[in-house]
This record gives sequence, C-alpha cells and structure tokens, in this order.
Amino acid sequence: MNNNHLFPSTFIPIKWYSDESLAVVEQKELENHPYYLGSKFIIPHPGNYVVSEFTFKNFVLIHSENGINAVSNICRHRQSLLLQGYGSRKTITCPLHYWKYALDGKGLSAYDFGEDYQCPDLPTLPITQWGALIFKHHESIQKILDETSSIKKLKTEDYLFRSIEVVECDYNWKIFMETYLDLYHINTIHPGLRKFANCENPQWEINEFSSSQTVDVMLLPDQNPSLPYTAYAKYILDYAGSTVAQKITWFSIYPNTMIEIYPYHMAISSIIPLSATKSLNVIEFYMDAALEDYEHGEAMHQAFKESYMETAAEDDMACQKIQLGRNNLFKSQIEDHGPYHNPLELGIPSFYQFWNTHFRP
Ligand code: FES
Ligand SMILES: [Fe+2]
Repeated sequence: MNNNHLFPSTFIPIKWYSDESLAVVEQKELENHPYYLGSKFIIPHPGNYVVSEFTFKNFVLIHSENGINAVSNICRHRQSLLLQGYGSRKTITCPLHYWKYALDGKGLSAYDFGEDYQCPDLPTLPITQWGALIFKHHESIQKILDETSSIKKLKTEDYLFRSIEVVECDYNWKIFMETYLDLYHINTIHPGLRKFANCENPQWEINEFSSSQTVDVMLLPDQNPSLPYTAYAKYILDYAGSTVAQKITWFSIYPNTMIEIYPYHMAISSIIPLSATKSLNVIEFYMDAALEDYEHGEAMHQAFKESYMETAAEDDMACQKIQLGRNNLFKSQIEDHGPYHNPLELGIPSFYQFWNTHFRP
C-alpha cells in the first residue's frame, strides 16, 4: 500500500486567507503570541540600537549600560518616530524639537520648556532573552526554544550580524508559513536548492507551538560556479573540507517566526500580516563569528545570501499562485483542502493544528 499521503484532520477555512475583516481579528490575536524583536548580535555593545521592524518600528532594541531594553520609538511630545535602522547613540534625541531620552527610555530634557518641566519617559516592552535572541516577553518562549534539540547549539553560538531585508508579499501570512513548512515543493520549484538540500530523509521535530525540519546538505562542486548555491558549496568545501557533515535546520515558532540555520550562516525572519492578502517578510542575515578569520568569509556570506534570496523569490511565486487560487474559491464560497505528502509536508498539519487550537480567535 502506498502510504505517501495523509488526509487532513484539521485545516484553516478558505475565508481566513481572503476576508479583510478576519485579517483584522487575526492581527489583534498575534499580540498574544511569542513575538521576535531582534538579536544581541545586532547590538553587541552599549550604545548600539536597532529599530524593530517586527513591531512596525514602534520599538527599538537598545543596549544601554544597564543591559538591553525594548524602548518605545515614539516621542512623548508630538509622537514623531525617533530612530531609524540601526547604529550607535549616547542618547535618543527626537529629530523634531530635540527632546532627549536616555538609552533606557528615561526622559532627560524637553528643549526650552524650562527647568520645572520633567520630560516623560519612553515606555518599555518586557522582553525575554534566549541566548542572543530577544522576544517580547511570553511565558512559554523559553520552553518552546529549549524543547527543540535541533536548535540547542544556537543558545551558545556566536554570530555576526550582516544585514536586514524587508520584502513586501502579495499574499496572506499563513500561505508563507505553509510554504515554509512544505519540503514537497523543493524538487519541483527550487532548481538551485534541490541540488544543495537533500530532502530524502528529513528529520522532523514537531511540538505544539513549533516545528523543525532538518535535512542533509549535498556539496556538489562540479556544477556551474556562477550559480549561488554552487558558489556557496564551493566555499563550504574550501573552509571545512568534505568530511564534515553539513545540515540545514528550518525551525519555526508558531505563529510567524522562523529561524533558519545553514552551514556557517543563519537567517531569522518573521512574516507580518499587513492585510488579508499582503504581508511583510523581514529577514535578518548572520554569519558564524568564526568566519571572521577566514579570508573568504564575507564572500561566502554573500553567496549564502544570494542563494537564500534565489529560493525566496521562487517561494514568492508559489505563494502568489496559492493566494490567487484561494481568492477564487473564496469568491465562489467553495471549501477545498487536499492531502499532505508524508513525510515532506508534515509541518503543514502541525501549523493548522496550532492555528485551530491556540490561535483561531
Ligand atoms: S515630536 Fe519629539 S520633540 Fe517634538
Ligand atoms: Fe520553498
């Protein structure tokens, strides 16, 4: 008997991908779940800050003398945004009328208001730190991260931050999650990735609030070296040789945070809903700190990032097509849900289970 498919015991109804009024309800619900803010790798020293794209720039992660805080990025005077991007500061000074705040959010001075006026403080958001990763405080985030063995090493590993990419997507955030959790399409739509990631024997770790897929890496140096994955493979072989077993782990914390560990590199992303059919994909890129001493470390990172973006563009096409199909079903009020490939699509029913049990408002 062919056992390569499973029928869903649960699914997300079609209207939740297209109906704007339901998207508003979902956006509110997201606030109740673990929320990634940024990492200490971006702000290693006191004075360093990074505006959190994951909070729509409403909060900025700042490393002050007293540690790391998530401080409001909105001025208490006329509510101007205070900081942009990332960098280093001694104080936070509003660009409009020069109100000044300390790096921990304490109000310092209100320009020309006189000495008896005390500038109010910037509110802070409680945070939870796991290794170098910083989340909006949530009671279960430590446990979610601790219970997945494939990411354990990350808690003590050292990475160097390299860049952030923000990509607008024309589809519902849940379609991105489903595509992320689907290894079945790697052979069909990812010509570069399928020669690099061997999905014959994926190792799944599926928990109630997260899932992880680990696959082996194939290093095939004899292909066209102008292709990003071939260049990346060539640098891995040059740096580590062919006897070191390399793996990729795609880990997701439901509902919408993804941590992807590749050989000597990492990407952390969140898919943030903007409306029923639009979302924002914010991706942070990192490289292993040990590569600093490798003469081709930066070139290797560039090849990794190009490989990642090649795959992301292919996924983007796939997600758009799923959105169009589901929009049509929504208009016709038809419900349709297919089977899952076993084992290559096992993450999808786990996400549906999470959504129906813990998320569905
Ligand atoms: S808006 Fe910030 S000082 Fe006026
Ligand atoms: Fe993909």
